[in-house]
Amino acid sequence: NNNQFCDATNIYGDSGCDVMSSVASKILIKGGTVVNAHHKEVADVYIEDGTIVAVQPNIKVGDDIKVIDATGKFVMPGGIDPHTHLAMEFMGSETIDDFFSGQAAALAGGTTMHIDFVIPVDGSLSAGYEAYVEKAKRSCMDYGFHMAITKWNETVSEEMEIMVKEKGTPLDFISLILGINSFKFFLAYKGSFMVNDELLMEGLKKCKSLGALAMVHAENGDAVFEGQIRMIELGITGPEGHALSRPPVLEGEATARAIRLASFVNTPLYVVHVMSIDAMEEIARARKSAQRVVGEPVVSGLLLNDSVLWDPDFHFAARYVMSPPIRAAGHGTALQAALAAGVLQLVGTDHCTFNSTQKALGIGDFRKIPNGVNGMEERMHLVWETMVASGQISVTDYVRITSTECARIFNIYPRKGAILVGSDADIIILNPNSSFKISSKSHHYRTDTNVYEGWTGKGKVETTIAGGRVVWENDELKVIPGAGKYIEMPPFSYLFDGIDKADAKYLSSLRAPVKRSTT
Ligand code: URP
Ligand code: ZN
Ligand code: ZN
Ligand code: ZN
Repeated sequence: NNNQFCDATNIYGDSGCDVMSSVASKILIKGGTVVNAHHKEVADVYIEDGTIVAVQPNIKVGDDIKVIDATGKFVMPGGIDPHTHLAMEFMGSETIDDFFSGQAAALAGGTTMHIDFVIPVDGSLSAGYEAYVEKAKRSCMDYGFHMAITKWNETVSEEMEIMVKEKGTPLDFISLILGINSFKFFLAYKGSFMVNDELLMEGLKKCKSLGALAMVHAENGDAVFEGQIRMIELGITGPEGHALSRPPVLEGEATARAIRLASFVNTPLYVVHVMSIDAMEEIARARKSAQRVVGEPVVSGLLLNDSVLWDPDFHFAARYVMSPPIRAAGHGTALQAALAAGVLQLVGTDHCTFNSTQKALGIGDFRKIPNGVNGMEERMHLVWETMVASGQISVTDYVRITSTECARIFNIYPRKGAILVGSDADIIILNPNSSFKISSKSHHYRTDTNVYEGWTGKGKVETTIAGGRVVWENDELKVIPGAGKYIEMPPFSYLFDGIDKADAKYLSSLRAPVKRSTT
């Protein structure tokens, strides 16, 4: 584990950081193929003070400027991971990767921004927000926040508005934009995060009024609870019980329900971690009827299959426990095809790491295994290998599903998700002829295991530039705690365009009330 950049004792550069190049404010990337979501061309990219200032062939600069030769390589927008859980308190533990270690690892893998889920404290959104501001203080890359909604009352409803709009400080009249434009509703985790249909509908209505995107973790939590009791009664207490207790049908049911309720309210819906054919087909059906539903598969769901959960070694099997569970072989390939076809739109990770000691809390009872797997560092490599190197999608589509679409959905495009003049200088250089190898011995997380242990492939991120600074080069991280910025995400993304017209059409379609005689 390359932990030198995660240790609190030597994070400020005395571990051999190349401080000069890590703070270089002017960089020229020469001769690469610049790839955006809809176009690619051979061009140079010139960066000054964290911003892209020119993208064109044959840019000339003085000798004092750092030049990176990208000939034969792809120059692409840094990845944006829409789904992570850093330093999250969950299932009696706290995830082992915090904002610094998780982000450092992500940068080594070509991701330059992520959106993490703020968890309310005792239902209080503002207390949750404050806690996450604190957790994120040592960020070394840009990040944004989604927020989970776990309770419903007037205060929560008002606080949602504050999260989206602004926070006024009465004394000095300074108002701070809190910049959250998405709220996640858990239909699973009965007894902790789970919400019922009534709360979900209140939440959907509130999201719609604020122009905020509603997100769902779609599994039927009541049925999962029942399934867990069934497994324990059958004496199935190991990690395989986790998958058996929450089969695809429960993901399909909750996905369908959330989609129908979002349709009833007429507001866009984002389904996180789509893990099964059952859920994917519900999304496909809704999209075919022009409903605005976004589907997010995660790397583990695209690539792994559930055979690992039957491994006789508890510690090995427990690493793969996440929710919804990793499915039988066949689901992943179907999700890849759906992603290639545009039925699903972007790839996340649901990065949520626990080390072996934490996973061991569930020895003898799978219900106590903290749920979650790694992915922030591997996502860009594994999606390249599986989707591009295999020939399933184009290089431009790769940029779309790993970066651009996320920026559009969360309304930060083209500041993020593009190599355009004026965009943030978050850039990766990927060499399609170089290889990557994944191992817990060389990854940059704090966690001691990796669910992709031993995986190799072609197409390696050789350079990562974040906020205009080279942070990953020659297999070396040059990260600075505190250098990452909080990215505010404004409401009313493109997904909301025209929603009001559909509402008006609906209202006018209601026939006038019948004037009835009652005599
Ligand atoms: O197992 C998972 N997915 N852990 C993170 C929490 C969630 O449901 O996203
Ligand atoms: Zn580390
Ligand atoms: Zn979830
Ligand atoms: Zn998650």
